[in-house]
Amino acid sequence: MIGRLNHIAIAVPDLAAASATYRDSLGARVSEPLDLPEHGVTTVFVELANTKIELLYPLGAESPIGRFLERNPAGGVHHVCYEVEDIHAARDRLMDRGARVLGGGEPTIGAHGKPVLFLHPKDFSGTLIELEQA
Ligand code: CO
Repeated sequence: MIGRLNHIAIAVPDLAAASATYRDSLGARVSEPLDLPEHGVTTVFVELANTKIELLYPLGAESPIGRFLERNPAGGVHHVCYEVEDIHAARDRLMDRGARVLGGGEPTIGAHGKPVLFLHPKDFSGTLIELEQA
């Protein structure tokens, strides 16, 4: 059911420093910061040949990334995003198998303007999974 790895999201405590590390030390192509207020994040996209890395920094007091960084002050992998062809079919399959879909199970529009869902980390080896309809 899942297809390509769309991105890996990494929460960072210092967006400029993390961007510089990816650009200067790792030699990657790095975007300018982009504020996504509806998601409570500022993001920097690192373009790789086969996928993307998204550096996430909290935006606003209610940011989910702010809470994550309180528990992980040095930053860390926040979620992985897999592509699916049909997000409703994917949701139904997962819920039928007992997986917990966050936020009531209705897809929302994600950071790339496409429908997304998040799956409970406790059902997936401690990893927060985002599904994005490709
Ligand atoms: Co994501």
